[in-house]
Amino acid sequence: MRRHNNLLVTGVEKMTTMFEQFPNRWTPVLPLNELTSNPLATELAGERIVLFQDNEQQWHALIDRCPHRGAALSLGQVTEEGHLRCRYHGWRYDGTGQCMAVPLNNLKDTALAKIRATVVPTKIIGGALWVYTTTEPLTDMPPDPILPDSLDGDPDMFIAHHQEWQAHWTRAQENFLDFAHPPYTHEQTIGTYLYDFAETGGTVRVETEPTEFGMTMKSFRDASDSYFRLDWYRPNLSILNFGTSTKNWMHVFCIPINEKNTRVMTVRRSSTSRHVEGFERHTTDTDHPILDEDRIVVESQSGDILSNPQEISVASDGPALAFRRWYEALLDS
Ligand code: FES
Ligand SMILES: [Fe+2]
Repeated sequence: MRRHNNLLVTGVEKMTTMFEQFPNRWTPVLPLNELTSNPLATELAGERIVLFQDNEQQWHALIDRCPHRGAALSLGQVTEEGHLRCRYHGWRYDGTGQCMAVPLNNLKDTALAKIRATVVPTKIIGGALWVYTTTEPLTDMPPDPILPDSLDGDPDMFIAHHQEWQAHWTRAQENFLDFAHPPYTHEQTIGTYLYDFAETGGTVRVETEPTEFGMTMKSFRDASDSYFRLDWYRPNLSILNFGTSTKNWMHVFCIPINEKNTRVMTVRRSSTSRHVEGFERHTTDTDHPILDEDRIVVESQSGDILSNPQEISVASDGPALAFRRWYEALLDS
């Protein structure tokens, strides 16, 4: 049974989504340079989370709900000890979610030790803060995500930008596995040279190869040997290989905010952090105007990628169909 039907079938309203349509995955949440308030409320896969930085400059994530009476922890403050203090009754939590103080009450240590806010594991990768979408108590850190070497390195080497799309994340993700749209969606920008090719009867042959991380896709024009390559890293990273150097790659993440909204985040890598300034311009001047062209069409679609079984697919939709099979299995798991 698809998970998002559970609520309809059982009629039981749940208190929380618990990341249930995007379970047990590492995903970026926000670029580091946008973590500008402490604490910071955000939403991921339908779950409200609070991000906060302790006094050792480590970022932590908790479900944004105080275990006492459910107030949003993000309304609170970070104390000088680096604990997040709830604004309602002042209970304080450390970065592991452990309650450190319950004011006005003389709690025994053993009673205090039993009070925990729900922690969400975090990591810093490629200039962004990542979280692991589970609310189960974990004894060990979850396994690292399989990622390209191009996301390794000092956070200063990466330029990350994001925009919000009013679309389900799978619609956005499918757009970044799609070779057939650039001549039309991007006719005015990167698709100009493909427009004439498409309109004069040119054809593409798309090869999709499953890999340990997801899949690699190549699009060959007619009988030519040259191709454009895309890589998909489960669950929500596409790499657009604009050239052989990692400097020319565009990493695109489709981050689910909730059923109707997706944060599309691009990450560019520079060869050293000294070049960051030039990359910033490059990224804002070129990448995001192109994403705006995608956004208009993707926002005109509705539901998730499985919501309309009448949709018609053709050979150039091969990568999208592979992604659909993976997504269906995710919902059924
Ligand atoms: S609701 Fe947070 S301390 Fe009471
Ligand atoms: Fe596009």
